Amino acid sequence: MKVAVLVSGRGSNLQALLDACADPSHPAEIVAVISNVPGAYALERAEKAGVTTQVIDHKAYDGRPAFEDALNAALDEAGADLVCLAGFMRLLTDAFVDRWHDRMINIHPSLLPSFKGLHTHERALEAGVRFHGCTVHFVRADMDAGPIIAQAAVPVHPDDDADALGARVLEAEHRLYPLALRLVAEGHARVSGQRVVITNHGA
Ligand code: GRF
Repeated sequence: MKVAVLVSGRGSNLQALLDACADPSHPAEIVAVISNVPGAYALERAEKAGVTTQVIDHKAYDGRPAFEDALNAALDEAGADLVCLAGFMRLLTDAFVDRWHDRMINIHPSLLPSFKGLHTHERALEAGVRFHGCTVHFVRADMDAGPIIAQAAVPVHPDDDADALGARVLEAEHRLYPLALRLVAEGHARVSGQRVVITNHGA
C-alpha cells in the first residue's frame, strides 16, 4: 500500500513510520512526505530516508479549498492509497476529509474520546486521570473523531509534569503508529459503522 504522510513539524512520528516501513516485511511504502510548513524538520528526516518531499505552504494559497486542491494533486501524483497525518497542524475541510474517507488516519496524543484538541498532557494532569496515552483513528470531519484503530495507554506518575508525561506518551506513539498502519495496510482494520473491526491480527 502506498502511503503519503502529511506533516508540519519535527516529524518524530514520521521517523517511526519511515523506520518501520524500511523493513521489507512492513506492508506499507511511504511514497511522499508533504509539509505545509517550509523548513519543517520532518522534511529532512524524509530526505535522509530517500523519500520524495514537497512543501505546500498554506499561506501561498487563497483559502482552504485552493490549498487542498494542491494537496490532492500532490497526493494523486504520488499515487497515494492512504494518507497518514503525523503532526499535521491544519484543519481539513469536509470535502477533503470525505475524499479520503476510510483512507486517511491520524495519531492523537490522548486516549480518545478524552482530551480532543490541543494541550492534551496538561489537561490529563488537571483531570487527575491515572492513565493517559495515544490513539490512531480514521479521520472524520469532526476534529479528533473517527473510528479508533488502536490505542496505547501509559501510567500517569504522581510527580509528572506535562513534559514528562508527554515524553512517555510520545514513546508509545512511536510504537503504536507503525502497528496501526500495518493493520490498515494489511486490510486487517476495517470500518464497520462507528467502529473498527480488527480481523486476522497476526495471521
Ligand atoms: C504528536 O504528539 C502527535 O500525536 C500529534 O502531534 C505530535 C506530532 O509530533 N498529532 P511529531 O511531529 O510526530 O514529532
